[in-house]
Formats: sequence, structure tokens, C-alpha cells
Amino acid sequence: MPREIRDVVFVDGVRTPFGKAKGQYAETRADDLVIKCIRELLRRNPSLPPERVEEVAIAATTQIGDQGLTIGRTAALLAGLPNTTPGYAIDRMCAGAMTAVTTTASGIAFGAYDVVVAGGVEHMGRHPMGEGVDPNPRIISEKLVDTSALVMGSTAENLHDRFPTITKARTDAFAAASQERAAKAYANDLIQPDLVPVATRSAELGWGLATTDEPMRPGTTVEDLAKLKTPFRPHGRVTAGNSAGINDGATACLLTSAEAAEELGLKPKMKLVSYGFVGVEPEVMGIGPVPATDKALKLAGLTIDDIQAFEVNEAFAVQVLAFLEHYGIADDDPRVNPYGGAIAYGHPLASSGVRLMNQLAQQFEQRPEVRYGLTTMCVGLGMGGTVIWENPNWEGNAA
Ligand SMILES: CC(C)(COP(=O)(O)OP(=O)(O)OC[C@H]1O[C@@H](n2cnc3c(N)ncnc32)[C@H](O)[C@@H]1OP(=O)(O)O)[C@@H](O)C(=O)NCCC(=O)NCCS
Repeated sequence: MPREIRDVVFVDGVRTPFGKAKGQYAETRADDLVIKCIRELLRRNPSLPPERVEEVAIAATTQIGDQGLTIGRTAALLAGLPNTTPGYAIDRMCAGAMTAVTTTASGIAFGAYDVVVAGGVEHMGRHPMGEGVDPNPRIISEKLVDTSALVMGSTAENLHDRFPTITKARTDAFAAASQERAAKAYANDLIQPDLVPVATRSAELGWGLATTDEPMRPGTTVEDLAKLKTPFRPHGRVTAGNSAGINDGATACLLTSAEAAEELGLKPKMKLVSYGFVGVEPEVMGIGPVPATDKALKLAGLTIDDIQAFEVNEAFAVQVLAFLEHYGIADDDPRVNPYGGAIAYGHPLASSGVRLMNQLAQQFEQRPEVRYGLTTMCVGLGMGGTVIWENPNWEGNAA
């Protein structure tokens, strides 16, 4: 049967406000956060009949309890999608939602379906990193990885060792800038449009409504950051201030074929160009975005100079700076994370990929001179993922 690869578009993306572990979502279920996102996508896109959603892929790193039971399927049913809509769960740790997007997008391109919901969740308060894991002892005894590879903060210290030019002063300056950019983006209402408020309940405090990202620390200065402890190594460089924290949150986006978007009257915010996932040494997992980006660029026939908007996940400042240093981009380049990143908003692991996409879509809307942008992230156990997107608002389209 002859087949054509079809164009895939990102129509819309939403997320819950992110929480601090044991914070605003302490008594909220993880699956309820996902359901909220799916319902919001349907509410915001009323021309999409729910029965046209043909797949729901939701990522979670810890697939236990309220993040288990094939969360894509359970969340779809609970969100009120018809029982004819299938769903599944996905895991690539921090790149879970990103992988949910690329996997379902590939299904759209192949013609398996037209409309999907892809996203992720991590309630790190209810499911601490490493909950229930049982690593095969051979991983360590046969030295497949160094023991430090299993502690993400230690991999960030290792990355500092590999890049001695990336000093703590630089990572702290980057972290303070992330907080400042996030505060500015909030002041300009660039983040809130994609947040879905979540009703919360606390046995002690009663009902509440989560409307903002709880981890943000506006006003953070480099002087504040210089005083923090380095929990991953004595006299190290990685601190609570220049890392993402331990967070709760969910994201979801609507992807369709370009034809289905047109048929259903849905306006695309981004068009998928290419993607790449790679493996690197697990001990320095933070370098993953570099070869992943090289791969995605090569597949797209582009170079780094063609990319004018970047959303780099800030698991740790050092890992963003290693990426920028590799490509000769300045630490404070305004094209990189202009609305702040995970250091400010938080990084509920498997959900973060779609937060990056939401912010890139916002960059595309604000900056019609930009044609191509990318979202990229490092991944535990030594991986990287990059997705390259094209801006449908690009002014060159009108020429
Ligand atoms: C780094 C880490 C261990 C810190 O955990 P923590 O100690 O519970 O963090 P806290 O939020 O309590 O912050 C520690 C201290 O730093 C302070 N702090 C944090 N950010 C700050 C900021 N921006 N400005 C000033 N102070 C700050 C806190 O107030 C706290 O101070 P206190 O001890 O006086 O109360 C944890 O956030 C972590 O593991 N992050 C990485 C997560 C991860 O690996 N993700 C996967 C990536 S691949």
C-alpha cells in the first residue's frame, strides 16, 4: 500500500500550575492533574468532537498507584472521552511527555490516526524519585554505569568536572536570570494563558485553587544563591538554587495531522520538523541535549544557526550552560528560555516536555521573525531528546 508521511501540528498545550512536593498538591491525586489538562484541551477547542481523539499517551516516570494502571487510558476515561478512545502509558523519565509527543506524532505522520492527546505527569511528592526501583546489581557490579549515574545531582557535579570553564558563579547567574525572566513573563501574562487552575483540598486548610507555579522565587539574587549548600558533593557547585526542585504537575497537548487541523478549524501553534533521541554516558547525562540536537538538526537538514528560539530544560543550570557553550551561544542569549525555565517553574519529571513546547509556542507567537525553534532536554541514565519545530506565524510565509 503506498503511503505518504503527513505533516503533524501542535494545536494547543496546557498544564497545571506546578507545585512544590508536599505543597499545593499534597492531597491531590496525580491522575486528577492529568484529567484536568485533558478536559481543558477539550474546553479550549470546542470545534473538536471528543470522539475524534484517537489516542491518549501520558507519560510518568513512576508508574505506581495513581500514576499507574495505564494512566493514558484511565485518565482518558475519567476525563470523559468516549470509551472508544484508547490510551497508554509511556516512560523515558524526564523526557516522558516529549516522547509521548514524538511517538504519537509519528503515528499521525504514518496515518494511524489524526488527532491525539499527549502529555505527562509526575507527582514527586507522592512518588519520590526512585520509588520502588530495583536496579539490576549487574548495572553497578559490571561497571555499566558509575554509581553517581543514579543520582541526577551527582551527574550535574560530574558535568562541572568535564566543563571546568562552567563555574558556580556562572550557574548561579543563570539561575537568578531564570527566576527573573519567569517573574517578567508572569508580569506580562505570557505563562498564565496555558495554565489550568486546579481545585485543591487539604484536610487542614480546606478547599483551595492552584492558579500559579508554587516553586517560583522571584527576587532571587546571585548573593542569595552563593550561600546555599552543595548537597551532592562537599564543596561542590550544584545547589537547590541552581537546580530544578522536587515538584508536582501535569501537562497535555493536542497534536493533529495538518489536514485534520484544517478540517476541524483548529489553528496550529507549531509544526513538527524533526526529532532525535540519543544515549550518552550515564555519568554525565546532562550533555544529552547536544548529540540529540545534532541528530535532529541533521534529520531536518538545518544547522544550529537556523534555530532562533530555544527552550532548554533546566534540570540543572550546568547542563544548559554545557549545551550553550558547545554551540558558542552566550549564557544570557535572549533567544534561550526567555520566559525562564525549570529552575523557576519546577520540573515534575515526565510532564516537562510539554511545558517546554507551550513556552516555545508562546515564543513563536511573540516573534514572527523566527522560523525554527527547538525544545530539548537531558534524561536520566544518560540520554537526550530534541524536537525541532517550525513557526506557522513566520512572516516569511506571507511573502
Ligand atoms: C537540590 C535538592 C536536593 C534540594 O532539595 P531541598 O534541600 O529539599 O531543597 P529546598 O527547596 O528545601 O532548598 C534548600 C535550601 O535552599 C534554599 N533555596 C532554594 N532555592 C533558593 C533560591 N532561589 N534562593 C534562595 N534560597 C533558595 C531554600 O530556602 C532552602 O533553605 P533552608 O534550608 O534554609 O530552608 C533537590 O531540589 C533536588 O534533588 N533537585 C534535583 C531534582 C532532580 O534530580 N531532577 C531530575 C533532573 S534530571
